[in-house]
Amino acid sequence: MPALVLLGAQWGDEGKGKATDLLGGSVDYVVRYQGGNNAGHTVVVGDQKYALHLLPSGILSPGCTPVIGNGVVVDPSVLLSELSGLNERGVDTSKLLISGNAHIITPYNVTVDKVTERFLGKRKIGTTGRGIGPTYADKINRVGIRVQDLYDESILTQKVEAALDIKNQVLTKLYNRRAIAVDQVVEELLGYAAKLEPYVADTVLVLNQALEADKVVLFEGGQGTLLDIDHGTYPFVTSSNPTAGGACTGAGVGPTKISRVIGILKAYTTRVGAGPFPTELFDEDGEALRRIGHERGVTTGRDRRCGWFDAVIARYATRVNGLTDFFLTKLDVLTGWEQIPVCVAYEIDGKRVEELPYSQTDFHHAKPVYEMLPGWSEDISKAKTFADLPKNAQDYVKALEEMSGAPISAIGVGPGRDETIEINSFI
Ligand code: GDP
Ligand code: IMO
Ligand code: MG
Repeated sequence: MPALVLLGAQWGDEGKGKATDLLGGSVDYVVRYQGGNNAGHTVVVGDQKYALHLLPSGILSPGCTPVIGNGVVVDPSVLLSELSGLNERGVDTSKLLISGNAHIITPYNVTVDKVTERFLGKRKIGTTGRGIGPTYADKINRVGIRVQDLYDESILTQKVEAALDIKNQVLTKLYNRRAIAVDQVVEELLGYAAKLEPYVADTVLVLNQALEADKVVLFEGGQGTLLDIDHGTYPFVTSSNPTAGGACTGAGVGPTKISRVIGILKAYTTRVGAGPFPTELFDEDGEALRRIGHERGVTTGRDRRCGWFDAVIARYATRVNGLTDFFLTKLDVLTGWEQIPVCVAYEIDGKRVEELPYSQTDFHHAKPVYEMLPGWSEDISKAKTFADLPKNAQDYVKALEEMSGAPISAIGVGPGRDETIEINSFI
């Protein structure tokens, strides 16, 4: 019953796509359990580069069944264009399964996301504008549209009516926008029904039966721990639970089934959108990390904010996810610095603090306390084993492992599938 969760340990974009793809060859199912097309996962296979948003990164491994779980929010137009884009490149997507209980990102919720952000002005979250927050809000408010509703026109119409009753009031009276017609939305959604039907399944049953049959199931998180609606830097978060517990609710699998939780951890830190970020750099080092690490959003094309590694955050990720392993990515990007600062604690109002403060006010005031680690200048992109790394790179990894509270079981030294040092096997 090997069930693994793979998730982001920081603010997203840690390299989850690459890590999932790497394991894809040895697992039977890869399951997205939350988020939607706010995610942008880059996978490099040979000379081919794929940008995935909604599809699990296992879609690129022929033996693997990709699953979109009940906890995901699905924009049907994005999903269909992602599927046809892959088909045009010769990728077989016929095994995909989509939960009938997954919620649909309707066109009006994309509009609401964008106008809300505009209305917030300088207090905005910096969302991806993909309708994620409003769709999860509808789910919790019990006015959401689910994938299965596409197959009952009468229920679909009633639900769209119920949702738009309130939303049109808000759009016209508060945001000064035009009302959205129920018929138009229903017609658009019904247009997707037949195209999605071959994929729709009782994914909870499928996954539990697979686990009973001893198949290997990998749950792939979108976003990251610090973007979690409960455990992240609220309100500067996404509207779902990327943390490990989210895999259970978002896929319908009990916590007793999870055997391993792998945190993907970048060797430095990045963040997109607004919110606190203690180790953020505004100098040439930040610029260099952005340039060398190609730190630009896959979904929105925004420059990512860059900073040094933050061990306080890594420890927090270990705790709230019960991490058993880390996969450290992008170590190669740090090649060339004489000394590499690592944040080991915070100073908050003159006091040294070792753990992430629960208070938002304190976190906004947190100043990083740095320890300097010696850097290396050798090219590490061809390293295949830990011993191939220069001594200082080995010591950097060991120091991060010590501070972060879980073993580093793999190290990324380049974007390609094979540019990975495997230390402990995951499966
Ligand atoms: P995700 O959202 O967590 O899947 O991460 P993204 O795909 O948004 O961003 C990670 C970027 O880093 C992608 O462009 C990857 O191809 C790249 N990447 C992943 N691992 C490594 C690594 O070890 N070294 C380098 N240089 N790039 C990597
Ligand atoms: P992957 O899976 C990085 C950020 C947005 C914004 C906040 C809320 O590629 O790691 P949302 O549109 O979700 O309501 O935006 O969350 N965000 C991400 N940042 N990587 C992601 O996904 C993200 N998905 C959302 O920038 O700050
Ligand atoms: Mg990403």
